[in-house]
Amino acid sequence: MTDVLERPAGKVWRGGRAPNVAVVGATGAVGVELIGCLETRGFPVANLKLLASERSAGKTLPFKGKDITVEALSPSSFDGVDIALFSAGGATSRKVAPEAAKAGTIVIDNSSAFRMRDDVPLVIPEINAGALKGHHNIIANPNCSAIVSITPLWPIHQKNRVKRMIVSTYQAASGAGAAAMAELEESTRAYLEGKAFEPKVLPHPYAFNLFSHNTAIDPATGYNDEETKVMGETRKIFGDAEMRINATCIRVPVLRAHAVSLTFECENPISPDEVREILKTAPGVKIVDDVANNYFPMPRDASGQGDILVGRIRRDLSDPSGRSISWFAAGDQLLKGAALNAVQIAELLL
Ligand code: A2P
Repeated sequence: MTDVLERPAGKVWRGGRAPNVAVVGATGAVGVELIGCLETRGFPVANLKLLASERSAGKTLPFKGKDITVEALSPSSFDGVDIALFSAGGATSRKVAPEAAKAGTIVIDNSSAFRMRDDVPLVIPEINAGALKGHHNIIANPNCSAIVSITPLWPIHQKNRVKRMIVSTYQAASGAGAAAMAELEESTRAYLEGKAFEPKVLPHPYAFNLFSHNTAIDPATGYNDEETKVMGETRKIFGDAEMRINATCIRVPVLRAHAVSLTFECENPISPDEVREILKTAPGVKIVDDVANNYFPMPRDASGQGDILVGRIRRDLSDPSGRSISWFAAGDQLLKGAALNAVQIAELLL
């Protein structure tokens, strides 16, 4: 498949005009990519409003060759805005998005604030674009690890129902924002120079280390919030409440692309060749499975790409029934895991 980043949108808004768009959290790691995706995908924009905290008011960011001044988010920010892409954290979304939605702006929210609400569609366009129907002006963008894990799994699920999935994630710094990416770089520099470094953004030393995802653990289940999101969101997006899922989420010292090791069990037997055949034409997926050269998906290769890379496609030998497959995938957390998926959702509204 061609890279999804190359696919143009080329449609317009209601009444034949281009929509007015706002990016909330425009100065953040995802915000900058949202602006980039609007531009690279040729999303029609009449006016682009860039919003962030007071700290960033007056800064400028480029869009289509022009510098746009960032404004501080305020209650009147959404006047005349048709579509607002939010990536400023759950607290800001909870505080601001419902009012904006009530006033008529369609909010596409990157936080987890509304994802599991029954009246909010949770959408990966390659999987459940139909869920957008009848939305109430808030649409949720799924968790980045869920997107990287299940975008390639959906076409398999359609042919041979996936009953069970076991996933371990290798999550990049970008998922914790621009400050976490800077902390990875700074702590790596300090480590190499033999200097002490006190982590400020993440809870543990990050350079040459990895740790269990930095979200709270539910004492009742032993799973952290990120794992709970991956499990719950997958069931909601697949529309399959019965799917059995086990997730382990780990933060690794990589800048911007997540990787996942995934094993799934189907209803009926399935072979690695059948999986390859299905994935060959799957939208948003690229097979990288060069056994001879031991070349498989890597965060470095996934960075800057819209597609999810999938490889190491093999039988799960622990399941003698032949129903289980293991693979390794990598996808750009900032693009398909966040900004690109949100802009693809916006395209479905045109
Ligand atoms: P700012 O840069 O002014 O702090 P990241 O996910 O990379 O940490 O980025 C978070 C984004 O959310 C940034 O653009 C940040 O703006 C923005 N943001 C954080 N808090 C608020 C807030 N209270 N109101 C508006 N924007 C916010």
